[in-house]
Amino acid sequence: MKQTCLQKNTTCPDLSGIEDQRKLNTHEQSRLHRDHQSEIYVKEQCFDPKGTQQVKSFVRTKESLIAKLSENYKNIPSSFIREILNVADQQNIISFAGGLPNPECFPCQQLAESAQRVLSEKGIEVLQYAGSQGLLPLRQWIANRYNQKFDMKIDANNIVITNGSQQTLDVTTKMFIEKGDAVIVEKPTYLGALQAMSGYLPEFHPVTLTETGLDTNEIENICWQNKPKFMYSIPNFQNPTGICYDRKHREKIANILSDYQLILLEDDPYSEIRFEGEQLPPIASLASENVFWSGSFSKMVAPGLRMGWVVLPPEMTAHFIKAKQSTDLHSNNLSQYALLDFLTHHNIDDHLNKTRKAYKAQCDAMKEMIVKYLPDSIKMTNPQGGMFLWLTLPKELDSNELIKDCLSQGVAFVPGNSFYTNGDGAHSIRMNFSNSNLETIERGIKTMGAIFSKKLRLNQMTVSI
Ligand SMILES: Cc1ncc(COP(=O)(O)O)c(C=O)c1O
Repeated sequence: MKQTCLQKNTTCPDLSGIEDQRKLNTHEQSRLHRDHQSEIYVKEQCFDPKGTQQVKSFVRTKESLIAKLSENYKNIPSSFIREILNVADQQNIISFAGGLPNPECFPCQQLAESAQRVLSEKGIEVLQYAGSQGLLPLRQWIANRYNQKFDMKIDANNIVITNGSQQTLDVTTKMFIEKGDAVIVEKPTYLGALQAMSGYLPEFHPVTLTETGLDTNEIENICWQNKPKFMYSIPNFQNPTGICYDRKHREKIANILSDYQLILLEDDPYSEIRFEGEQLPPIASLASENVFWSGSFSKMVAPGLRMGWVVLPPEMTAHFIKAKQSTDLHSNNLSQYALLDFLTHHNIDDHLNKTRKAYKAQCDAMKEMIVKYLPDSIKMTNPQGGMFLWLTLPKELDSNELIKDCLSQGVAFVPGNSFYTNGDGAHSIRMNFSNSNLETIERGIKTMGAIFSKKLRLNQMTVSI
């Protein structure tokens, strides 16, 4: 008497919730069943005792919506960092986990004045829809600054203002990556980039990151064997390690890009917060036709503005604008106007020097406390800028175990796994130094030291038994 009714049958009336089951009589209910495997209720066609055909559609459970999520979406890794930040926020713990700038460096008063000024003087333009490429004078400001700094020939027409450099990552990967495409990334690399790219189902080819830059022989081998069209890297004070590529590595990578017609997304949000050592040229200045050079005001001014930019190879500008349009029409207009006003009324280098000084003090304090409190077998990088340093642990210590003990004692950091595409990283840790004061840095690392030393003794004893 019964047969399955396909969901596509448009004559089926749609019942819209599990409560509707109560409206059916027992006879009908016995005809309804649940597909336990997929957790989706299925529709059935059934006949009542008089032989009249009654078609009942049945509920979609919450699970049925989850089952509909796309393969692309499901491939995006979740952010351990965001989860830790939630815990850190709730419990007021000492957090070396988030990638947060030092809030004392935010120019709150100046930005308040700028926002006030642009709203009262140009309110209509500020509050109206705007062009997708971004405010021209702001693009000119960026072009002038980097043309002077690196002797480049950037044209403001090839700059697009973005809602932070995370958007540049998202738009660029949308433009280039298709399922199965070979993509070169650093090993380890920025989690937000892995999230942005993973949604397009690439095949990642992680390349070893040495203290002076990416292993260029490995890059060339991948170019030969896998014909990648896209590479992502962070040459300045890399997130998560704090490593900065030296000049030789930059030049070699620039040559590889043109030899193999490889596109590089050079993610560069940290170069302006170098607090030691000499300024190095961006790879974009050495191979401008192959590089999308992404910058950000998040670390220069404040991340809440959500302001970044990208310098594009000229033939790519219109394509980038089209891809961005489909995401957000244009970047936040009030932020653009307020930022431009701030940049024209104040000396950005005075502001940046204060930030650099604060970050150097925080980084030095963290390095000193690591030497003082953590076991000697733990190695650290020695950043000359940025916001992070990277710890490499002996094989007896697993950062995924350590984080549980540390969280229970009120300290957070990010275990290394989050920054690898293949689950590596258990013996490493990312430490953020820019969002803790010197006293908290000492307290937090002292706590970590006690936990790490105890665990190391225990694990070494277990191994020797
Ligand atoms: C390497 C890297 N790229 C991009 C971003 C995103 O920054 P924003 O979108 O705020 O410019 C971050 C944030 O921490 C980062 O570390």
